[in-house]
Amino acid sequence: MRAISWFGEAFIPERSTYLGRTVRQEPVRNINVLSPTETPVTKSASAAAAFAPPHPSLFSDSGTLAQNLVEAYLAVRNETERRTAPLTPEDQLIQSMPDASPAKWHRAHTTWFFEQFLLGEHCRGYQPFHPDYAYLFNSYYVSAGPRHARHQRGHLTRPSAEEVTAYRRHVDAAVVKFFQTSDADALAKLAPLVEVGLNHEQQHQELILTDILHAFAQNPIPPAYDPAWRFPASTRGGDQWVSLNEGIHTVGHTDDSFHFDNEKPAHRALVGPVRLGRDLVTNAEWLGFMADGGYRTATLWLMDGFATVTNEEWQAPGHWRQIDSEWKVMTLGGLQPVDPNAPVSHVSYYEADAFARWSGKHLPTEMEWEVAARAGQLNDAFGIVWQWTRSAYAPYPGYRAIEGALGEYNGKFMVNQLVLRGSSLATPQGHSRITYRNFFYPHHRWQFTGLRLADYA
Ligand SMILES: [Fe+2]
Repeated sequence: MRAISWFGEAFIPERSTYLGRTVRQEPVRNINVLSPTETPVTKSASAAAAFAPPHPSLFSDSGTLAQNLVEAYLAVRNETERRTAPLTPEDQLIQSMPDASPAKWHRAHTTWFFEQFLLGEHCRGYQPFHPDYAYLFNSYYVSAGPRHARHQRGHLTRPSAEEVTAYRRHVDAAVVKFFQTSDADALAKLAPLVEVGLNHEQQHQELILTDILHAFAQNPIPPAYDPAWRFPASTRGGDQWVSLNEGIHTVGHTDDSFHFDNEKPAHRALVGPVRLGRDLVTNAEWLGFMADGGYRTATLWLMDGFATVTNEEWQAPGHWRQIDSEWKVMTLGGLQPVDPNAPVSHVSYYEADAFARWSGKHLPTEMEWEVAARAGQLNDAFGIVWQWTRSAYAPYPGYRAIEGALGEYNGKFMVNQLVLRGSSLATPQGHSRITYRNFFYPHHRWQFTGLRLADYA
């Protein structure tokens, strides 16, 4: 029974399957490593979410469907507010570059998502909180109507942060009432849509942290989002390389647990022979690249990459500052010394590719990453930095976006971007998956992005 995948599949789950499902471990084939577990990571105690291994569902298996939906909905909505609680109204307005959005906008946009796609389409008699908010807070859904320009989101002093709070409360009350008063059959049909909305909000929770960090990194007096925050401890150990034998492997999402449409169809792929770095590349290794003139050596770079490095005058990863000959990095805890043992973060695809070339190695494909991660052999696969792969963000064989506005969620971005795998220290608990495909343009580096190497020798 396909229960949960709303994207691209039947939008009529059966409640019993939906709530009672368990995640199956997907098969490991033709690999010489066989432990299908993931390595937990000790995270900093901070407002950033604590790490937990990939979680099968946002929903509890006990209670009525309505109770479970209310509980999951409020938990995710409260996490958004928890992440923005340290921010002043001024912090919530800033848009430090077109790719980043104000925290206030994230709070309102995720609210609009539920208002537009759940209440507006399924709750009879629902009145929108404000007639202009659909225009202000629609992000990129052409099918949902006209929208405010993305690069001008930081121009919106009004509505105020307080008014956005009122907007969130209005929609939250309406959603909870809708769950509590709808019949079970109707809710069962809508539960996958709710889960999409909650996962969507979790994606914005990560962006809330990366976007405010980018803004704070532009500030000469480096503000700390959370003064107690420290970079999470990474895991090392085991052989340096994970060997994957040549074989045909199933990749992509195969079970009934939640996933985005871009993770399907599962299909078979030839992988290996290849060795993948068990550990993430560290700051110490990156400093070696810098000391060797890595940023100045054109032959190490893709042409577009070197043009970007030159135009942007990059000499180090994003958010790094050299002060009195010492490299420091802007973090959620403020400006801190670069820890040589920590995984490097805030590097673009261009930089990751150049580093791999300088190392005499390569970046892995997303298929290689998935096969090794499924076997539980990658240290810090999740919870520290997203890892660049050299795979283009393209549709899996047979992929088609669904009809309607939510068909725009992932499919229309499948060109000119690269896939990142894993998750980061800013990824909310319960939002990580082995088959998860994140994607960014090759020059992007304001996310928590790092790398591990591949070796074909
Ligand atoms: Fe969004």
